[in-house]
Amino acid sequence: MQPVLPLSARVRRTDSATDEDDDDRFSEELVEAFLTAYTSPGDVVLDPFAGFGTTLVVAEKLGRRPVGLEILPSRVAYVRERLRDPSAIIEGDARRLGELDLPSVDFTMTSPPYMTRSDHPENPLNGYRTDDGDYGRYLDELTAVYASIGRLLSGPESRAVVNVANLRTDTGVSPLAWDVGAALSRVLAFDQEVVLDWADPEDWYTNDYCLVFQRR
Ligand SMILES: C[S@@+](CC[C@H](N)C(=O)[O-])C[C@H]1O[C@@H](n2cnc3c(N)ncnc32)[C@H](O)[C@@H]1O
Repeated sequence: MQPVLPLSARVRRTDSATDEDDDDRFSEELVEAFLTAYTSPGDVVLDPFAGFGTTLVVAEKLGRRPVGLEILPSRVAYVRERLRDPSAIIEGDARRLGELDLPSVDFTMTSPPYMTRSDHPENPLNGYRTDDGDYGRYLDELTAVYASIGRLLSGPESRAVVNVANLRTDTGVSPLAWDVGAALSRVLAFDQEVVLDWADPEDWYTNDYCLVFQRR
C-alpha cells in the first residue's frame, strides 16, 4: 500500500497563540494523506509526542479516534482547546506509555523531538527542559517507546509513521533519519520511507522523511 501524498503545502508554520519559539508542526495535509491511505473511520490513531496536536486534530476531523501523549503542560492545554474531545490528549511521558491503559492502536504518526549526534546538551525527551542530553540514550529511549507501541498495534496492517530529517550542524550532517530508522528497526519492521519533497525546504536539514514501520 503506497500513500499518495499531496505535498505542496508548507510543513512549518508558527502560531503565535502558543507563544512558543519552537513551534514546529507538520502540515495537516500530510497527516490527512497518511490517515486516508492507512486508516478507516473509527480507527484509533496515536501520537506519542503530540506537540501542538496536528495528528490528533486531523484524526478527529476525519472521524478517527485520536489519543495522544505530550509532556509539556502548556502544549497539552493548547491541544485540549483544539480538540472537540479534550480527553484525547494525556499529559504524560511517552517513555511510560507501556504503563498506561491505552486501547489497541490502528495507526500512529508523530514527529519526535529531534537531537543531533554532537553539541546538543538538552534532553529532547524531557521537552528540552534539562541539560542531560545523551544521543545513545535518546535513541534507546525512543526505541523503547516504539517497542511499547509495537505491542499496542492492532494488526499486521497497522502502521507507525515517524517524521525525521537528517540535520545539518556546524560540523556536518547528523543523520538522525538513518539513526532513528536503524534504532526502531530493532523493535518494528521497516516498511518504506516517504521523502517529503517540500516546495520550500529549509537549510537545517538535507532531506525530510516519513519512515513507515509495521509490527514485526
Ligand atoms: C516535534 S514536536 C511534535 C509536533 C507535532 N507533530 C505537531 O505537528 O504538532 C515533539 C513533541 O514531543 C514532546 N515531548 C518531548 N519529550 C516527550 C516525552 N518524553 N513524552 C511525551 N512528549 C514528549 C515535546 O514537548 C514536543 O511537543
